[in-house]
Amino acid sequence: MALPYSKRLIELFLSPKNVGEIPDADAKATEGSPACGDMVQLFLKVDPETKRIMDVKFKSYGCASNIATASIVTELAKGKTLEEAKSISWKDAERELGGLPLTKIHCAVLAVDALHTAIENYEHQHGLLKEKTPTTPEIIIQRLKRVIDPRKGVDVVRAKTVKDVVVENGVATITLNLKQDEEFAQHLAQEIEERISPLWDIEKVEVKYS
Ligand code: FES
Repeated sequence: MALPYSKRLIELFLSPKNVGEIPDADAKATEGSPACGDMVQLFLKVDPETKRIMDVKFKSYGCASNIATASIVTELAKGKTLEEAKSISWKDAERELGGLPLTKIHCAVLAVDALHTAIENYEHQHGLLKEKTPTTPEIIIQRLKRVIDPRKGVDVVRAKTVKDVVVENGVATITLNLKQDEEFAQHLAQEIEERISPLWDIEKVEVKYS
């Protein structure tokens, strides 16, 4: 059976560019869920003066389309300023690949989201935000909507895995409707910590269980 993939997509799946990790990355982001498998991690190295992306790498646990689109997205981002890289969209990746099956658009969205989140995290961590809005529980809940509960296949807010969110004196306390020894509890805590800790005024993230 012929695969609905372009020649370019198959080439990049077999020999992707920019695969790996940047150990001393200036910012990173994870999109998707490690527990489900559809996940991409992206690492950025940024010139502090020019705000240009000097290096960008990714690790994908997704499918062929995800690997190929992450390869394209990282190639497009390299050498661009953060502002320029913000306008990269999944449509750019799709165009470069010569098309993507409809069922695989989310794979490209995942790769682009990882780039955008890593840029946003960089801005939070390096004082580049245009408006420094103090973090509220609502802001945290918005970020938590990107953390998937692998037991339910939807985000932790929709899955009602999050019981309570409190922000006080730079400490974000997130209480989960989970026992500490339940399956995926530790894994979710780690993902939540990674997702919330880049916020500019959050010094500590505490995940509690009920
Ligand atoms: Fe889910 Fe491609 S990353 S099918």
